[in-house]
Amino acid sequence: MTTPGGTLSPPRYAVTVPPSGRHNGRDTPHPRSRGWLPLPLNFDLFATSECAPFIKTGGLADVAGALPKALAGNGHDVRVILPLYEGIGEEWRSQMTYLQCFHITLAWRSPYCGIFELKRDGVTYWFVDNEYYFKRSNIYGHYDDGERFAYFSRAVVESMGWLNWHPDVLHCNDWQTALVPIYLLEERHRIPQLCDTKSVFTIHNIEYQGRYGSQTLKDVFGLNDGYFNEHMLAYHGDVNLMKGAIYAADYVTTVSPTYADELQYSFYAHGLEGVIADNRHKLRGILNGIDTEVYDPWRDKGLTKFFSARQMAGKKNCKAALQQMSGLRENPDAPIIACVSRLVRHKGFDLVTAAIHEIMGMDVQMIVLGTGDWNYEEAFRQAQNQYPGRFAAHMMYSPNLSTAIYGGADLFLMPSISEPCGLSQMIAMRYGTIPVVRETGGLRDSVVPYNKFTGEGTGFSFANINVQEMTGVLSEAVNLYHNEPKAWKALQKNAMTADFSWEKSAKAYEEIYGWVTGK
Ligand code: GLC
Repeated sequence: MTTPGGTLSPPRYAVTVPPSGRHNGRDTPHPRSRGWLPLPLNFDLFATSECAPFIKTGGLADVAGALPKALAGNGHDVRVILPLYEGIGEEWRSQMTYLQCFHITLAWRSPYCGIFELKRDGVTYWFVDNEYYFKRSNIYGHYDDGERFAYFSRAVVESMGWLNWHPDVLHCNDWQTALVPIYLLEERHRIPQLCDTKSVFTIHNIEYQGRYGSQTLKDVFGLNDGYFNEHMLAYHGDVNLMKGAIYAADYVTTVSPTYADELQYSFYAHGLEGVIADNRHKLRGILNGIDTEVYDPWRDKGLTKFFSARQMAGKKNCKAALQQMSGLRENPDAPIIACVSRLVRHKGFDLVTAAIHEIMGMDVQMIVLGTGDWNYEEAFRQAQNQYPGRFAAHMMYSPNLSTAIYGGADLFLMPSISEPCGLSQMIAMRYGTIPVVRETGGLRDSVVPYNKFTGEGTGFSFANINVQEMTGVLSEAVNLYHNEPKAWKALQKNAMTADFSWEKSAKAYEEIYGWVTGK
């Protein structure tokens, strides 16, 4: 394979010359290569293991799909880089153009790396192609995930030389790209495009840290023993990638202010509380937003009728449609309590399953959508048998049904044990579905508890991991629904008009980019 320069040489020795007339994908030279443009332009590279709408398993994909777009809207030149998984469909592949290919270095390996490009909504997306690592049915859960994402992280760093792109900030996310700040330290002396690039690392969930045996340090990650120390990757005799990123990055963020505080406690930090304490000076929590164009009940084609805070009539129609399609009895008067989630312990499903009968003792209907641990699925299936027409258990993943639920349900139950940010509660609020949440992480930061004296608030919340507390606020919510329709409407309006757009959060990220780069 030859590069436009003619020979195959690693970027540390030769920077590829872009095809004539085009520099860095723009039609003007890179300002820094000439030094004649005094503007404080911002060039950001956002490295992520998933990104909506191309490929998604969780909230990280939503953030990667929305934050770069918001930054681009503020005048940044933003590129997003992610693996070209098999699951990325033809509809996207057909819009990509092939840019380059080269071989990178990963310990003793020199794997192939192809780069494809797609432009959308002012953002340039780079897809890293390597079929050995990414042509697989699931994006995570393989025996060699450590190697796959080390490869990706290496590709992120090395491709900057080949693509001749100078990011000011390299923003990486979660353990899958945790090696990026470390490879940046390694390579910035050799890749001129990275000589003054700063790194920002965002923790979306500290539970998954990327922990591997110490032999992987050299053999898989290609790092020398110097990195195996207490202020970098070493963790109880193993390599811990997230720990390394927290030390190596110029700045660390997490996805809500409350989660940033909670991370000081071992209950939330999963063993990294000491690392967090050590790095508290460069850690900040920024609440995620949601894509308010995508999640808009006035425009969402997944709904049977559109509605808005001013014109709520359509929501009744959506409720009837939801009841029909989910097997609930058609009844406009029974409030529908919904859960849409992965059915795992930390989402609070021990509380939900313990409370099923008490909840069903209220005059309500309930619907649960999601897959996960067998014991929860089984508990919900049993409830469906026991309460036919009033309890609907849909143990599957269904974007269509989830839209119908956001649109048609009345209450959205999210009693998470921990929740770094959580997006569903914000989506629910946008659709006038009132959240009932535990006060943790982003749930605490996004839901303002209803105050019956002032009418303020956007939802209901409780503090402790306790079934009675949860059912207590649920019954308050159900009472308000049944007995005070005016107050309920006002509450819906508050929820629907709360500002969860990315603007605010994007500003906060820009501030951090500014601090680290000095721009
Ligand atoms: C993770 C967190 C979730 C957060 C999302 C996006 O999935 O568990 O709370 O909303 O990342 O940051």
